[in-house]
Formats: sequence, C-alpha cells, structure tokens
Amino acid sequence: MFKTKITEMFNIEYPIIGGAMMWLSRAELVAAVSDAGGLGIMASAIFEDKNSFREEIRKVRKLTDKPFGININMFPAFRPVSNDDYIDVLLDEGVNIVETSGHKAPEEYVNRLKKNDVRMIHKCVGVRYAQKAVKVGVDAVTVVGYENGGATGKLDITSLVLIPRVVDSVDVPVIGGGGVGDGRGFLAMLSLGAEGVIIGTRLMVTDECPLHPNLKEALVKSSELDTRLVMRSIGATHRAWNNAMAQKITELEEKGASLEELAPYIGGEAAKGMFESGEIDAGMISCGQAIGLIESIRPAGEVIKGIIEQARAISKRICH
Ligand SMILES: Cc1cc2nc3c(=O)[nH]c(=O)nc-3n(C[C@H](O)[C@H](O)[C@H](O)COP(=O)(O)O)c2cc1C
Repeated sequence: MFKTKITEMFNIEYPIIGGAMMWLSRAELVAAVSDAGGLGIMASAIFEDKNSFREEIRKVRKLTDKPFGININMFPAFRPVSNDDYIDVLLDEGVNIVETSGHKAPEEYVNRLKKNDVRMIHKCVGVRYAQKAVKVGVDAVTVVGYENGGATGKLDITSLVLIPRVVDSVDVPVIGGGGVGDGRGFLAMLSLGAEGVIIGTRLMVTDECPLHPNLKEALVKSSELDTRLVMRSIGATHRAWNNAMAQKITELEEKGASLEELAPYIGGEAAKGMFESGEIDAGMISCGQAIGLIESIRPAGEVIKGIIEQARAISKRICH
C-alpha cells in the first residue's frame, strides 16, 4: 500500500520525505527517517567545512543502509562552504539524491549532478517555480503550502489548492506538504495528486531531533495559533514559532528595520544557541501550523510508522 512514483524513484518503502531542517537534520534524524522507510534529507548548510560534512554523511551510512538525500540550500545565506564544495563531497561519497531549495531553479547544478546520476528534487512554493525547475531538468518537485514551517514565499497559497495546481501543471512526480502532522494529512496529500509527502514540523518534536528538551516540550504544548510569518519585509517570508523573538522581529519589521538591523535576531547563530541552550525566547525557530496536531515527543521511526498505520485505517474506513 502507498507505492507511488516517488517510492519507486527513490527506492523507499513509504512516500514520506523528512524535510531538511537547518541545524536539526543531522545524521541521527536523517537515518531514523530513512531507516523507518521514508527518505531522510540532511541539511548541508549546517556544516562549516568539507570534512565535517563528509563525516556526517558517513555517520548516516553507519546508522542505516537505506537511501537518504542531501539538501543544497540556495537561499541567500552566509555559508562558509560553497554549494559547489558540498556537491564535491556528496558526489565523492556516492550520494545519489539531492534536494535543492531556494528562490530560483537549480539551473547551475543540474548538469553536474545529472552527469553523475544524481536524482534531483527541487522544493518551491508556487506553480511557476515548479514549472521552471522541471524545465531545467529536475526529476521531481516538492511544493509546500502556506501552512508550512520555514520559507513560505510571498504567494500565500494553501496546500489544499497549491498541490493539485502543481500536479496539473508539471509532468514529473510531485511531493506535497505544508501542514502534514499525521496520517490524515498524509492521505490528503496523496488524494490531491501528490506522489510523496514532506514533513518537517512533526519531525522537530522527535527523540532524534537535536533540539533542547525545553524547546521540544514548549512546542508540544503549542497550538496551530502559535506560529507567525516573519521576514516578509526583507523578501524572505518564513513561518516561525510565535515566541518573544518572533514578536521582536515583527516589531522591528513594522518599524522598517533594515536587513543589517534584523540580522542579529534572524541570524542562524541566535537560533543555534537557542536550540542548544533551551532558552525558548533566545532565537527564532521555523515552525508550521502542524504544531497544533502534535501531542507527544516520539522516536522519528514511530512517527513515520504511525502516519502509515493511521492512513491505512482511514483508507479502509472510506474505501469500502
Ligand atoms: C525548524 C525547521 C527548519 C527548516 N529548515 C529548512 C532548511 O534549512 N532548508 C529547507 O529547504 N527547508 C527547511 N525547512 C522546511 C522543511 O524542510 C519542510 O519543507 C517543511 O517543514 C514542511 O512543512 P511542515 O513544517 O508543515 O511539515 C525547515 C522547517 C523547519 C520546521
């Protein structure tokens, strides 16, 4: 059950993709998702040099022999290693699945990756962007709607409308997401025509996610009302957890703050510090509306299996 073009393309058991999360999608979480039958995606931008990136790829391989992918982040960011360096390493290590994400299509990487038999997914938030990515040669597109945690873009189209629009507009398999927290959302995505489903927010609150327990507990207690859009004023809209830092960022944006003025608050270092220390207002953390569906901190593998079991039970109930 739930065999799709995406399970076939990536040789995985279930069409569930573990969304890459900055600072969090390291070996343990990636391997746990893949080992449970999904596709874990490691966030390359976490790593400050080629060696630590290479070590982490090897660590995934020690934890699981299942397929996994690497995210190449094309959003503007201060990054000590260039994406070409990350690609050097991942090719060298024989990784053959790459997800790109950003404001543009991954034109500059397609030739090199395809020449090396890498299958490519591009993640975006609108029909036009998906079409452009397909035109430059990606094998699959991921689209996430307005509910999603992290970059939401400026279009504000909900998943319920965006996914079928993209499915109807491209001729490659579509992975849908934004707001999926359980088997109900998973099945809804497949009903909308997606061949795979991406989850991010749900995976933040798992045992293998390297987030301080204080934060995980605070997130579990949050509801769907506890997110807000930030960074729209600088053209980088993100859905984030509505903590004191997100409110501070909003206030600064309302006052017309420049990128330089916002930088200390939105920068990765503040977030990283908070993730490690557990001071829940010390940084900004991406978070989707699916946070309202999460009731407990569980192992990532249980989350994946739980989604599949719930989806099977629902299919039985509605298709008899
Ligand atoms: C804490 C967090 C960090 C994220 N970091 C990234 C990232 O670095 N790059 C990226 O492409 N997507 C990032 N995302 C987006 C996820 O990969 C995924 O697309 C999204 O979470 C799916 O929507 P959902 O949160 O509603 O499940 C992040 C999401 C969260 C919650």
